[in-house]
Amino acid sequence: SCGGQKKVEVDFIQDNIDNAVAQNTIQTDIIEKSGKILNPRTINKDGSISYIPIDDWCSGFFPGSMWLTYNLTGDQKWLPVAEKYTEALDTVKHLKWHHDVGFMIGCSYLNGYRMADKKEYKDVIIETAKSLSTRFRPNAGVIQSWDADRGWQGTRGWKCPVIIDNMMNLDLLFNVAKATGDNRYKDIAIKHAMTTMHNHFRPDYTCWHVVSYNSDGTVERKQTHQGKNDDSSWARGQAWAVYGYTACFRETNDSIFLNFAKDIADMIMDRVKTDDAIPYWDYDAPDIPNAPRDASAAAVTASALLELYAYTEDQSLSDAYIEYAENILKQLSSPDYLAKENENKGFILMHSVGSFPHDSDVDVPLNYADYYYLEALKRKRDIEKGL
Ligand code: GLY
Repeated sequence: SCGGQKKVEVDFIQDNIDNAVAQNTIQTDIIEKSGKILNPRTINKDGSISYIPIDDWCSGFFPGSMWLTYNLTGDQKWLPVAEKYTEALDTVKHLKWHHDVGFMIGCSYLNGYRMADKKEYKDVIIETAKSLSTRFRPNAGVIQSWDADRGWQGTRGWKCPVIIDNMMNLDLLFNVAKATGDNRYKDIAIKHAMTTMHNHFRPDYTCWHVVSYNSDGTVERKQTHQGKNDDSSWARGQAWAVYGYTACFRETNDSIFLNFAKDIADMIMDRVKTDDAIPYWDYDAPDIPNAPRDASAAAVTASALLELYAYTEDQSLSDAYIEYAENILKQLSSPDYLAKENENKGFILMHSVGSFPHDSDVDVPLNYADYYYLEALKRKRDIEKGL
């Protein structure tokens, strides 16, 4: 019956919230015992927890998971925890040497601002938007992702590299425009999204990972960094794309973004042919079916499609999005991907891939897989509640 099915869904959500609370409690207990404020990202090859500095692109996800846990449980006990790990990132607002501040401050401070009405976080998100905007290159109409002369990315000779992941940083700019009334941030975000739409995508709606621009704004090269090869479809990149354009529609109400997000969603549903809807780390990975899966790409996709579902008026399409997202969520919540309680060093999910070509974080838990899994659970919970 309908009521019976609803109870199954509600129980599914509650069981997985309970499990997440248990795992988060393990992680925060380990950190508390150290007497330090640490930020867990993954498990190292030697089995130890990898803690990251605050300028790592992943530093917002653990605080973000604490906000989601607070939201999902309503338990006041998680509020000071979320505040503490968020506020440890305060100086990130001044970081100007890479684009990821949108992820870092978006998942931490902006979530506190949105989910817990933390008005005092407003200055931090504004300062971060200012820092991110320094990377806007008007000739090309993009925010530059990486510096041309720094780190592993700096070895490739790109003049102005922009990666599809950068779509995820726009949400912060849109929200700062809303919070301040200063539409410069919104204009930059829209320009970046439109330029990326024109240059990053192939006719079949898959995308390149990296597009590098010349100083006159023309495209220099289209390549990959974390995918199998330049013309392959790196799984997480496709997930960032559908998530990013769905968020652009939310913030602008412009149907060009909605239609584009739908085209990408249709491509993902068509291309990911694994029996459990969890993609290989690259759609064109060698060694399929033995290539590692990327649970993080699946979690990002599930969360995106649960949002896209709500914006899709065509019933057969919206049904397809929610069914696909729910299938991912069920598979991630099965023993194939969900760690047993007390295992996995407190991380919720197993089997994600950071960067296969760099042999970095291959088939491991990752804090962003957990973050987007929790966000997808929240979105599903909100749909069940009619919110
Ligand atoms: N934004 C970096 C990654 O997705 O690996």
